[in-house]
Amino acid sequence: MIPQFNDQSITVAIVGCGGFIGCHLLDAILTRTKWRVFGVDLDFYRIQHRLNDERCEFMVADLADKSVVERIAKYPIVVNLAAICTPSRYMAEAPEVIRSNYDHPAALADACAKSGSWLIHFSTSEIYGRTSADSDLLVEDESELTFGPVTASRWSYATAKLLTERYIAGLKNLKWTVVRPFNFVGPYMDFMPGVDGSGIPRVLANFSSALVRGEPLKLVNGGVAKRSFTSVFDAVDFMFALFEAELSTSATENAAEKSPLSQAFNIGNPENELTIAELANKMRKIFAEIKGVSVDTIPEPEEVSGVEYYGEGYEDSMRRLPSVEKAERLLGFKAKTPIDVVLRESLEWFVGHYSNG
Ligand code: UGA
Repeated sequence: MIPQFNDQSITVAIVGCGGFIGCHLLDAILTRTKWRVFGVDLDFYRIQHRLNDERCEFMVADLADKSVVERIAKYPIVVNLAAICTPSRYMAEAPEVIRSNYDHPAALADACAKSGSWLIHFSTSEIYGRTSADSDLLVEDESELTFGPVTASRWSYATAKLLTERYIAGLKNLKWTVVRPFNFVGPYMDFMPGVDGSGIPRVLANFSSALVRGEPLKLVNGGVAKRSFTSVFDAVDFMFALFEAELSTSATENAAEKSPLSQAFNIGNPENELTIAELANKMRKIFAEIKGVSVDTIPEPEEVSGVEYYGEGYEDSMRRLPSVEKAERLLGFKAKTPIDVVLRESLEWFVGHYSNG
């Protein structure tokens, strides 16, 4: 453990503290350090067990409020996880998606540049755009970025996130790190439609909901798109690798200088790459094992077109395979949880949490 983890005077602000990644990061910070947390979100159901923690202060707010942005930027480390990040919303709510993924984080970046806070901004693997089925490893500072036409509003989110990255990277006085998550999964991901959320959650939560309800899993456009699924617990370990690297650098270097970590990192697990059809079959098998039944009793997946399922303007990235060389080289970090373990822990949690859903 590096000495600063014992420093009770450090407060981390986490925007989106009650969300899927935020709840795990909060738990890890409170368990592995003596730091304090200033948590901002609109919904705290995932962190009920922390609401009375004396090391935490929580605020019900979002980044649309300027005074909240200024308050957040008073803390030395600011982690921004807040976003509208479910694809089903990118078509119907493009303006809100753009506001939440560009206007709000840009305002936060300005405030952090002014106050001198280190901003760790969560972007997305989706900034690599409309990748094709045979696209190669996606490399942070090399890959070409191609998006669909403006009429394909699927790309509203990715283009807003990309603009934010460019904005952050261009701010002269900002100390920053950008994280590009590649399909993080684990307990508390998204919601179960009709129980604690509405619409279509991301694929893991959607498949888990269908399994619990005994309904067929829907394979959008045949389920041929590929994703590399990453445990949210590996993602939290990445954050600690980042904290350690930054804190040991700033202890030895001029604190006023921009950190060598002012760059973007892919966080993913290329060993966990699957087509969505393969994901469906793995999840059916694991669900059958959890329930102690034969997989033949679990409904076969059904195919559905993307436009029919999500609406006009839906397009897809066909492959998202992260290069993880940079995080390994600069931070000594590599995601390690294999796909079967990630899926089992996610599904077991989902079944337990929503058993009456
Ligand atoms: C989404 C977000 O846009 C990104 O911000 C985010 O970084 C990323 O998830 C992530 O979790 O890291 P995407 O991977 O397309 O991007 O999200 P999903 O909704 O989980 O879809 C994954 C694939 O499964 C897509 O090909 C989709 O069409 C398919 N899918 C989804 C199905 O076949 N069936 C479903 O029920 C849901």
